[in-house]
This record gives sequence, structure tokens and C-alpha cells, in this order.
Amino acid sequence: MSDIKLRIKNNAALMERTLEHYFSLNDDKYPVLFEAMRYGVLDGGKRVRPFLTLEFCRLWGGSDEAVLPFAVAIECIHSYSLVHDDLPCMDNDTLRRGKPTNHVKYGEANALLCGDALLTYAFEVASSNRLVSSENTVKAINLLAAMSGPMGMVGGQQIDLLSEGKSIDMATLKYLHARKTGCLIRCAALLGCLASGDLCNEEQYKAADSYASCIGLAFQIIDDILDRIGDQEIFGKPIGSDEEQNKTTFLTFMSVEEAYEEARKLTEKAKSAICNYPSSGILCEFADYLLSRNK
Ligand code: IPE
Ligand code: IPE
Ligand code: MG
Ligand code: MG
Ligand code: MG
Repeated sequence: MSDIKLRIKNNAALMERTLEHYFSLNDDKYPVLFEAMRYGVLDGGKRVRPFLTLEFCRLWGGSDEAVLPFAVAIECIHSYSLVHDDLPCMDNDTLRRGKPTNHVKYGEANALLCGDALLTYAFEVASSNRLVSSENTVKAINLLAAMSGPMGMVGGQQIDLLSEGKSIDMATLKYLHARKTGCLIRCAALLGCLASGDLCNEEQYKAADSYASCIGLAFQIIDDILDRIGDQEIFGKPIGSDEEQNKTTFLTFMSVEEAYEEARKLTEKAKSAICNYPSSGILCEFADYLLSRNK
């Protein structure tokens, strides 16, 4: 196994253990909520965002203990966004992470509440981080809210819905992708920076943001490509969902090869934003890995 694949595997295993810990909560009166939350968050995701959170904290010399609550929080918000994204009133998908979607398994109303619970639980977890200064914890909470909310991921999802079956221009598509996918990816990287405290200066914070903005857009371009030409068994999501829902994607404007070339350029730009920092090799390799992914 290559170094990067091993690192991804180890970070994912660390996240799984940590998520298991945070998701051991229950209440006998309404166990279905906790079951649906565990179903939505445990076992299956690639853990791309927590990888960024962990690795940016490590890059500047911060500790895993300090960053883990933030990594859990971003994965909770991401997982909630997927549960809601799959609902019949949104993308109407029945397969996620290789399993039936949350609403298929638990029903629409329970999936809606599961998403609500994952979103709010993220803030409970992030705000109870005792190993990061109060100042940076408040910054982290503000960032989580801003990147997830109306000016962030939810805003992107709204433009996505408004654009169904319409012709939007390339600039609008990039704006939509930057919000619906880019914002949580940027947030993930920046939470890692905040968890490292004073070890990360403003210039380093900006470099992390540039890197993450570029891989965020590249990530959604690859997602659009895999939605068209991926292998459902490996991708773990339905192929052709975008076309079925009349979504505008990169492939509305260009061929698979051209879209891939766009993603490749963005990946190079991402790497150039951080490559001068010692120990940034792993994040550069990660950017390349995301470009070549098939799931
Ligand atoms: C899927 O994200 C949603 C997009 C933003 C394209 P991921 O591809 O990271 O999904 P999981 O977490 O691995 O299932
Ligand atoms: C991702 O867009 C957006 C989210 C914010 C959840 P997609 O709708 O393309 O994501 P997938 O392909 O269903 O994972
Ligand atoms: Mg969608
Ligand atoms: Mg979708
Ligand atoms: Mg997609």
C-alpha cells in the first residue's frame, strides 16, 4: 500500500473510533433517532474532510487530541448534508456509501430529524473542545456555522435546486460548486489550522484556505464525472443521478476529458499554495489522490 493510502486508512480508522465514542449516546424512549444518526455517520464515508482537519493541524505542529472534536463536528455536518441531499424532495437518491439512503431505511421524517440532530450535535461537540483556546473555539464555531449556512453549503444547495433544468453560465456553476462543496472542504482545513492555535499564522491560514478552495472545486468536478462514468459498486452512489435530476454540472459545459483537465489544473494550483511548507508532502499527495479517486 502506498504511503498516502496507508495514511488515509489510518486517519479513517482514528475517525471511526472517535465517532463511535461520540455516537454512543442513546435514549430508550426514542432509539430510532440515535440509530439513524449512527447509520448516517458511521461506517462508509471516505472521511475526506476529517483527513484535512487532522492533517492541517499536524502540518503546523498541533495535537490530534485538540483537533479531533473539530474533525468530528465537520464530519457530522457533512453527513447531515448527505442525508438531506438524498431526500426525495432534493436529489431523490436511494444509495449512499454503498447502502440504502437514510430515508429509505428509516423513512423521510426520521431522516429529516436525523439530519437536524447531526447538524446541531456538531456544534455541541465543537463547543466542548477543552484543548483549544476559547478564542479559537469561538472562531471555529463561527466558521462551522458560516460555511454550512445560507452563505455556505446550504446556499450552494439552494442554487443547485434553482438551477435544475435551467441553463446557468460557467461562472454561476463555479459559484454553486464553491458553496455546496467547497465551503465544507475549506472549513475542514481551516478547523485544523484553528486547532493548532498560535502555531498557525495568518499567512499559513491563507495558504490552507487557497489549497482547500482549489481541491474543493476539483472534488466536485470529479464527483460530477463519477456520477456520469463511475462504477456504482465502487462509487457507492447511483450513476446518472445528476442527469435524472436535470442538474447543471461541469459535464453540461464540457467533455469528461476537459472536466478532468480542469480538476487537474486546480489540483496543481492547490499544491502550489502549500508546497513550500515543510511536511506539506502528505497534503500534496492527498490532492493527487483525490484527483485519481474512483469512489
Ligand atoms: C459527497 O462527498 C458529496 C459531495 C460533496 C460531492 P464525499 O464524496 O466526501 O462523500 P463520503 O463522505 O465519502 O460518503
Ligand atoms: C453535493 O452535491 C452536495 C452536498 C452539499 C451534499 P451532490 O448532490 O452532487 O452530492 P452527491 O453526488 O449526492 O454525493
Ligand atoms: Mg445534490
Ligand atoms: Mg446528491
Ligand atoms: Mg454528485
